[in-house]
Amino acid sequence: MAAKQPLWLDNAIFYEIYPQSFKDTNADGIGDFQGIIDKLDYIRELGCNALWINPCFKSPFGDAGYDVADYYTVAPRYGTNEDLKRLFAEAHRRDMHVLLDLVPGHTSVEHPWFKESMKAERNEYTDRYVWTDSVWEEPQGMGCLRGISPRDGSCAINFFSSQPALNYGFLNPTLPWQQPMDAPGPRATLEELKNIMRFWLSMGCDGFRVDMAGSLVKHDPEGLGTIRLWQEVRAFLDAEFPMAAMVSEWGEPDKSLQGGFHMDFLLHFGPSHYNDLFRCEEPFFSERGKGDVSAFVEKYLENYEKSQRKGLICIPSGNHDMDRLARSIHGDNLKLAFAFLLSMPGAPFIYYGDEIGMRYVENHVSVEGGYNRTGSRSPMQWDSTVNAGFSAAPKQKLYIRQDESADRPTAAAQMADENSLYHEIKRLIAIRQAHKALQSKGEIEFVYAQKDAYPLAYVRTSGDEKILVVINPSAREVAFNCAHAPKETLYRFGSEIIFAAGKLTVPPQTAAYFSL
Ligand code: GLC
Ligand code: CA
Repeated sequence: MAAKQPLWLDNAIFYEIYPQSFKDTNADGIGDFQGIIDKLDYIRELGCNALWINPCFKSPFGDAGYDVADYYTVAPRYGTNEDLKRLFAEAHRRDMHVLLDLVPGHTSVEHPWFKESMKAERNEYTDRYVWTDSVWEEPQGMGCLRGISPRDGSCAINFFSSQPALNYGFLNPTLPWQQPMDAPGPRATLEELKNIMRFWLSMGCDGFRVDMAGSLVKHDPEGLGTIRLWQEVRAFLDAEFPMAAMVSEWGEPDKSLQGGFHMDFLLHFGPSHYNDLFRCEEPFFSERGKGDVSAFVEKYLENYEKSQRKGLICIPSGNHDMDRLARSIHGDNLKLAFAFLLSMPGAPFIYYGDEIGMRYVENHVSVEGGYNRTGSRSPMQWDSTVNAGFSAAPKQKLYIRQDESADRPTAAAQMADENSLYHEIKRLIAIRQAHKALQSKGEIEFVYAQKDAYPLAYVRTSGDEKILVVINPSAREVAFNCAHAPKETLYRFGSEIIFAAGKLTVPPQTAAYFSL
């Protein structure tokens, strides 16, 4: 580990901004950098001290910007590079940090590199993407683009058909067109990636959330090549930008942390059981009390141990890829869910609007490759003015149709109501920030997480400080034998939790943090 490190991650609380939908300041119906700058105080007041901004680079927006056409220039609809630089400075002035979204695995088909790569004549970009030697040969295990260029070959894709895969090589090439990681093509791609990072870090960004970070080297099921690749990136960062923070969309912390990432996300896909908590037929966070937290805890502990108990696994409230939290859980359950999210190890990530319980907007036609994700990407609801204060554009020009229900939540209304979700989250953040044990690096030990049972209880520890967290979303009173005698109550939602004769009795729909 380098001596210099982004220590701010230890108490970072992130706010994820989908820039299209946050705040529009020039009435074109799409959010922009100035809108983000205008709302920094709002985010800071909530208690968040860091941002993750979804891709904001030039793009044909076939996948909302995850299809980059120029890594060095922002999309004009958000502003200019200078505006983004100003955003970094304004954030820093408020003691906040900013992560940009880096999409290293693929570009848009519109990227000039890809246009060059499609040419039959050899050129600088011939090996920038993963191509087979013949249009009749498909890359095994990957989708592909073929028959669209004079170049004879099929080009691997990473996600949508408009996202050709950049070439970082194959771990163990077995066919002539599969290049090893150290071949000139893959090396040049990696050097370009470093240049992109250099460019934005020099401009003042504090690091990156890395898209599909685990998928760069091909035919690499154990991630060995990809880990090696990121280790090289980390070595470059340690030499030139030691303070750069790296968070991965990988979902396998044992691998990503080895690759030099500071944190990895717990993802809604894969084996994390994250969905058991919030997004399934019987979520744990429901008064029905039919959920099961045990499989999640088992997986979490497995990852926690594998990541050397560093605890740097981030559990997001949601993101631009999954259903809004408020689609499957409601009312006080949202508050109880945040009592959990804001007391777990790793940095919490709040998806914009989740702090006011914004809903999933049903029945959308896909916008910019969103498909079912579109309903989670609707414009922020600020207040009771036109378009909920998001934009002065005519309603039909808004990037995505908003929640039009009369009782849609707004930031203004929730800020005026002490009992709102917004205020509960603000209180929870303040408590987390006042106690090291509750922050990213505090240890965790589960004390009650039984199959098909409630409550959930765990102890967080940092040095001498120990805090017991107890959460019972179910509508029934539950009890368990607890070796830890609560001292002071640091936080309480709902009725009082009673400790007597070694037993904790937990009323329905309650949460509490106790010092031990
Ligand atoms: C990630 C992004 C998602 C995008 C995909 C392809 O999963 O979060 O929005 O569509 O990668 O880049
Ligand atoms: Ca705008």
